Amino acid sequence: IPKKIKNICCIGAGYVGGPTMAVIAQKCPEIKVTVVDINEQRIAAWNDKILDNLPIYEPGLSEVVKEARGRNLFFSTDVDKAIVEAEMVFISVNTPTKTYGVGKGMAADLKYVELCARQIAKVSTSDKIVVEKSTLPVRTAQSIKTILDAEGKDIQFKVLSNPEFLAEGTAIEDLHHADRVLIGGDQDVDGLKAIQCLVEIYAHWLTKERILTTNVWSSELSKLTANAFLAQRVSSINAISALCEHTGANVDEIANAIGADSRIGSKFLKASVGFGGSCFQKDILNLVYIARSYGLEEVADYWNQVIILNDYQKRRFAETVVNTLFNTISGKKIAVLGWAFKKDTNDTRESAAIYVADYLLNEQAELMVYDPKVKPEQIYADLDYLNTRSEEENRRLLTVVTNPYEAMDDAHAVTILTEWDEFKNYDWKKVYRGMKKPAFVFDGRNVLENELLKSIGFLTFNLGRS
Ligand code: NAD
Ligand code: UGA
Repeated sequence: IPKKIKNICCIGAGYVGGPTMAVIAQKCPEIKVTVVDINEQRIAAWNDKILDNLPIYEPGLSEVVKEARGRNLFFSTDVDKAIVEAEMVFISVNTPTKTYGVGKGMAADLKYVELCARQIAKVSTSDKIVVEKSTLPVRTAQSIKTILDAEGKDIQFKVLSNPEFLAEGTAIEDLHHADRVLIGGDQDVDGLKAIQCLVEIYAHWLTKERILTTNVWSSELSKLTANAFLAQRVSSINAISALCEHTGANVDEIANAIGADSRIGSKFLKASVGFGGSCFQKDILNLVYIARSYGLEEVADYWNQVIILNDYQKRRFAETVVNTLFNTISGKKIAVLGWAFKKDTNDTRESAAIYVADYLLNEQAELMVYDPKVKPEQIYADLDYLNTRSEEENRRLLTVVTNPYEAMDDAHAVTILTEWDEFKNYDWKKVYRGMKKPAFVFDGRNVLENELLKSIGFLTFNLGRS
């Protein structure tokens, strides 16, 4: 086991690897941190002199990169060199849902993780602590260890699990002030030493009470469990939102009322058009798959319901738009405000907006999309990926604009699909004047001031209000 960590390598320069390593480098100036990736374009963007060109938009990220890059933070495509130099190697590559073979549509695809393990095994010439940063099925550490040891070299590998809990849009804040970090490792002498090496890194900026240590399996499974619980809260409140619309109850008032109970807590109770993001669905599907693989059908069904409810919520919102617009939106111009899966990120993976837009396009609506951070090519790529209609048709029916007023001008309806702050500050009187009448607003995030909109003349739909 390496005594002191002087060099860290992180494989995968994505949403997790980039910000996490930038913060470690910022807080541990004596450690050289090298983030590597096979995606040359991504690495070039991380190295771009113009900080606005970093591949990921996160509040506060460019300041951290500016402070550490070139000092002790490096981005490179030379994966082998960085592995050889490092005493500690983080695996932070993507673990998407499998799209083929056994477990298709459910299980996590571990091919990228396995490739990393094989590469580490092949090129290493000294002892290493290998850290699972990616979100992985419980017991993956076992497979990684087997692969690492299979080269039969006279060096020692220790595998730790250190799942990441940051949320996009608040990544830097979450890393700087983490509620906790979790480190799982073998509970023998060497395992505990390896755990200690990683504890010391986080102890540069977090108090010891916030650094939890467990066995490897608890750590791996805690990550899937945390995401399942979080997503479950969203599905729970969204289920109640549907009931509110029929009963005169107001979902935001309910969230307040139940959130005041300290056992329930007030966070993560915002009704929405559905949760998105690269991980909630993927991780729950994975959890469901693992439960089924052990024959735990009731457990699997229980968690699967969180996904079913989320799909229902997206569909329900889109149906409401069609029903309210007199059962036809064919040829009608509808503004879509927001494409990212949540505010303050340019990430669109699994965004509810994609599915709502697809539904509305099936009804032959003409969509005008505006998002402050998402690029037009991303929006088209997201739709094309669904394969519902031809690429030409997607471009004919959907236009991406850079001015929100242009999106709403002459439209029959406005839909709010991401909770961007700027939407609140638009000149809604001006918007109303420009729209077809009756002018509808469907607020899928309950962010606009409903009373104000109504006083202007809008007909409004809010989630969870009758
Ligand atoms: P990402 O797709 O943004 O980044 C992964 C990167 O790994 C890509 O740039 C890819 O090119 C690179 N890569 C893949 N295979 C490689 C290889 N063999 N060698 C070198 N580079 C390789 O993914 P992400 O969002 O950063 O997620 C990474 C992991 O972290 C996933 O397991 C995810 O579930 C987990 N996670 C993500 C978040 C999040 O907010 N996005 C939060 C917590 C955990
Ligand atoms: C989530 C978790 O919050 C992180 O702890 C975890 O590390 C991460 O997944 C991951 O493993 O990838 P993230 O997906 O970035 O983070 O963002 P969240 O803030 O959790 O939001 C997820 C989705 O739920 C968004 O679409 C958001 O709009 C929605 N949401 C969230 C609601 O609809 N209502 C809420 O009250 C909260």
